[in-house]
Order: sequence, then C-alpha cells, then structure tokens
Amino acid sequence: MSGRREILLHEMGLGPVWKLRQALRVPAPPLSADLPSAAIVETPAAQPSPADLVLDYAAAFEGGDDTFAEPDFGTAVEPVAAADSRREIIMRMDWPQLREAVADCTACALSGTRRNTVFGVGNPSAPWMIIGEAPGAEEDARGDPFVGQAGQLLDAMLLSVGLQRSRDVFIANVLKCRPPGNRNPEPDEVARCLPHLLRQVALVKPRLILLMGRFAAHAMLETDASIASLRGRVHQVAATPAIVTYHPAYLLRTPLDKAKSWEDLVFARATWRGLQSLSGDPISTA
Ligand code: URA
Repeated sequence: MSGRREILLHEMGLGPVWKLRQALRVPAPPLSADLPSAAIVETPAAQPSPADLVLDYAAAFEGGDDTFAEPDFGTAVEPVAAADSRREIIMRMDWPQLREAVADCTACALSGTRRNTVFGVGNPSAPWMIIGEAPGAEEDARGDPFVGQAGQLLDAMLLSVGLQRSRDVFIANVLKCRPPGNRNPEPDEVARCLPHLLRQVALVKPRLILLMGRFAAHAMLETDASIASLRGRVHQVAATPAIVTYHPAYLLRTPLDKAKSWEDLVFARATWRGLQSLSGDPISTA
C-alpha cells in the first residue's frame, strides 16, 4: 500500500486493520436473482436526428404533444402516458441533448429554487459509475456533484481503491437539482428526474455501479430494503452489476461505519476485477 493511500485511509478514520495483504483477484460473485432490476430502456437501434429530438422534447414541454401534460407541481403523480412519453424521448438523447434537457428541466418544483442543475462529472466512458442522492448547497452553487465535505470524503474513498474522479468514474445523482434545505428527495421528484439518470447509465455503459445511500439504492433497485440488508451482494441495474454502500454524508455523521464502507469498496473492486478477468480486459486501474 502506498504512503498516499495510507494517509487517505487514515483521513477516512480507517486503521491498518484494513490493509490489503494481497491483490484481490476473485471472480465476480453470482448476480443476485432475487431483486428486481431497474427499468432501464435499451437504446433503440434507429436514432432520430438531434434536431427532431430537440423539437419533440420542446413540444412535449410546450404542450404541443397531446400525450405530454404541462408540469403540474401540485399533482403528486405525473400522468402515466405523459411520463412514458417523456421518458422515451429522454432515452433517445445523446450527451449534448441530455445536458441541455437537464439544464432546461422544469419537470418539478425544484427548478424554481435551484441555482444550477448538477448534471454529473467524470469520464463519460468510465468503467465505474457512482450514484449519489442530490446536490447540496455547494453543488447547487457550483453545478458539480460531490464538491462539498461529502465529496472530499468520496474522493478519498475512491482514491483508497485506486480510482480517480476524472479518470475512472462518472459521478451523478438521483436528483439533478437541490432540494431546499437539503431535505430528502420527494418520491415525485425522484420519479420525474430518474429518466435523466437512467439515460446517463445507458450512455456511460459502466462495468460497475456503486449506489451510495438509500435514495440511490431504492431508486435504482426498485426496493425499499435497508442499506444494511442490501450491502455485500451484487445487484443488477439493467444488466450492470451494482453494489450498495453508505452515503458519504452519512459516514461523516457516523464515522464508525466507515470501516463497513471500506469493506464495500474492496468488495466492489474485487467484483470489478473478477468481471475484468472474465472478460479478458486488461486491469488498468485500482
Ligand atoms: N450528496 C449527494 O448525494 N450528492 C452530491 O452531489 C453532494 C452530496
């Protein structure tokens, strides 16, 4: 273990007990069959032109499409046909279209209180995707995810297993806008924002997804099980292996659980390396 890694682990509150004695090269554990996978729509083979998509999307919001209702923030549940239509449009977007759609989104009331949308950051073809909950005050001010205290801890956690934010991961949140006062996301906000995240997953095509905290786990695995019960297993988001761990903000409040999150990271790395060796790909990081 490098001195730098040791310092990072020390900052995370983890002692030498967590040192790895040998490189882990275990095959991936079997994917759990007992959990429902998230409803990620496959990218359709025939792509509409970018101009068509932008027009469809704008028309949907402007009421030019009968199947799409104007956003009604007073209504808890978006009409099913409208939600389906909007999701289908989003699931056909490329990166620039998706960025623009998120930046202009007014699908829920958070658009009225945000300073910036927080799209996501990192390598758009990264092998790992990290999914958090929602932007906080600093993320809202800067427009990037995980730039506050929780973000510093996340960077240290990633570095402890050899992953760099800009190179090895793409980081995104369930919500792209800050809930005022850092309150929990509302179910309707999650439902309206989720298509953006599902499209990001489909575009990044990560080898492994790390779900941080209960909002990410619940939204992507369609469950309301506890984090404790979801840890230590390989789930699936569409066909992608997904591992659940604690949210860095929770770890800041509950430092004793940092050791468990380290176990989760080591498990995630071992799973990823197992997948790499099964696919014959070179192991380039971690
Ligand atoms: N917490 C999150 O879940 N996401 C962020 O971007 C920042 C804090």
